[in-house]
Amino acid sequence: MAASHLLEVKNLTTEFRIGGSVIRAVDGISYYIDDGEIVGLVGESGCGKSASQLSVLQLIPMPPGNIVSGEAIFQGIDLLDFDPDGEQIRAVRGGKIGLIFQEPMTSLNPVLTIGRQIIETLVLHLHMDRQSARKRAVELIDLMGIPDAKQRIDNYPHQFSGGMRQRIMIAMAVSCNPNLLIADEPTTALDVTTQAQILEILRNMVKAFNTSLLIVTHNLGVVARYAQRIYVMYAGRIVESGTVKDIFDNPCHPYTLGLLKSVPRLDEPKGRKLVPIVGLPPNLGNMPGYCAFWPRCSKRSPACKKKPWPELRLISGQHYTACDYDFDKK
Ligand SMILES: Nc1ncnc2c1ncn2[C@@H]1O[C@H](COP(=O)(O)OP(=O)(O)O)[C@@H](O)[C@H]1O
Ligand SMILES: [Mg+2]
Repeated sequence: MAASHLLEVKNLTTEFRIGGSVIRAVDGISYYIDDGEIVGLVGESGCGKSASQLSVLQLIPMPPGNIVSGEAIFQGIDLLDFDPDGEQIRAVRGGKIGLIFQEPMTSLNPVLTIGRQIIETLVLHLHMDRQSARKRAVELIDLMGIPDAKQRIDNYPHQFSGGMRQRIMIAMAVSCNPNLLIADEPTTALDVTTQAQILEILRNMVKAFNTSLLIVTHNLGVVARYAQRIYVMYAGRIVESGTVKDIFDNPCHPYTLGLLKSVPRLDEPKGRKLVPIVGLPPNLGNMPGYCAFWPRCSKRSPACKKKPWPELRLISGQHYTACDYDFDKK
């Protein structure tokens, strides 16, 4: 029997109905995460990264959203079979799957102390008594490198800097010993130094809590040092996937190539010239019948417009691309 993945998403499609038009934010994507893995989901803003993650947890507002099709098999059970408002999915969200979002101010409750918020999570998901939960909350805050945890636990979110708030979000996310952490743009609102610190903490937490981590980011540079595998998303689809080495050393989709040229990496010397990808991502409510990257593509040919967007094809090992261009050809 083939070993099963911790999370396996199959053919997930999510749409939003806005006015008269239908926006297909997620267009039949499939991906998986194994135990202990750090995986990156990368693509420009608006390509459906958040919508795909919110779909898996049934957090898409319905309407206007609608999960049209797909499965999200987590520990052998399809999360999309659960009632979106039911106990089962709630036990997964913030319990077995910990969530970290871009702007902690929107996910932390501004009128409750951070201690109270972590304690509530521990009481709800782990059924701890308040006294043990408070002790555990102090430990967690301390573990995140926040000084004076015993005093700081009684502070409100606004009394912390952006980087410190993100540490608190991570503390909350790991508090219930999740099997999977989903971090959606965890460092986007932060300066470069703080970004690196938060990524280090995330990596340490993966080891300390023996969890898996999906880092969702528009910045390919962010995942270079941390992820083992990467999925590259464009206009609702996964256009390339592979190991970090596949993606960085042998990109086989012109979009991935464009992303690589356009972002700095945290692990390379400063000074490389950055070249942005020309043009803008397409309007997801009005997609061409052919490859949606065509208008911006450096390798495009007239033939690309005469066929549907290519399906993912195997390059080698775990490396797939949704482009027919032959990158080996000089
Ligand atoms: N709640 C929503 N209502 C309407 N449209 C939405 C909603 N959430 C996302 N979308 C649309 O879905 C597309 C993908 O958005 P999103 O998943 O947030 O992208 P990303 O996270 O990659 O930046 C966008 O076109 C966005 O406008
Ligand atoms: Mg997003």
